[in-house]
Amino acid sequence: MEKLYIHPLPVRLWHWTNALGFLLLIATGLQIRYLDLFQLMPFRTAVVVHNWIGFILIANFFVWLGYYLSSDKIKVYHPELSPKKYFEASFRQIQFYGYGIFRGEPNPHHPSAYKKFNALQSMLYQIIMMLLVPIMFFTGLLLWDVGRFSSIVEMLGGVRVVDTVHVLLFIVFCGFMIVHVYLASLGHTASAHFKAMITGYEEVEDEPAQDGTH
Ligand code: HEM
Repeated sequence: MEKLYIHPLPVRLWHWTNALGFLLLIATGLQIRYLDLFQLMPFRTAVVVHNWIGFILIANFFVWLGYYLSSDKIKVYHPELSPKKYFEASFRQIQFYGYGIFRGEPNPHHPSAYKKFNALQSMLYQIIMMLLVPIMFFTGLLLWDVGRFSSIVEMLGGVRVVDTVHVLLFIVFCGFMIVHVYLASLGHTASAHFKAMITGYEEVEDEPAQDGTH
């Protein structure tokens, strides 16, 4: 096993702030939306905490974006431009998660500093970070002060449309977090990827990868 530094400090600080923030947004969001079902905290507290955390995570998102845009590590987010290569690598990864892993086969993807994501992570993280997270924060900002942003809200179809998008994304993020944490537990040990996101260092097997990454 070789130790590779693949998660730089700004990414780790962004990630754990973001993860904690999302958990708190989910708890306070549930309280705001389902007032009759949960009594975790007073409604007013839930709204104030939800708004504050929303603003902190928007700022945190710009830390993540700023770091990647000003560093050559942005390469980890560059998509594979050959569809053939991309689909083959995705298929191998799906086969590994669905079948190979239960037979003790090695992961076809070996991370490196500039290619740390497998084909599935690469696609998923791009959609999450460049599409869904910005839409979530933008709709949240509009709902924070509907009066101030009334012209934009009207242009988008009204409060109900903006609110529906925000709530649908909430459901998507709840699903994402379950799948994300499950997949993150499929390292060479159950805690390997979590430790890597804390220390920055991932332990990588020495054999060559089968998806052309090493
Ligand atoms: C309790 C919640 C969470 C846990 C335990 C967790 C765990 C992890 C771990 C272990 C990794 C590194 C392994 C990997 O690359 O998959 C990771 C990476 C990542 N996670 Fe999470 N995560 C959580 C929540 C979130 C949330 C809410 C988001 C986004 C909305 C998110 C987005 C990401 C992204 C984009 C990466 C790749 C970061 C990069 O290297 O640029 N995670 N997560």
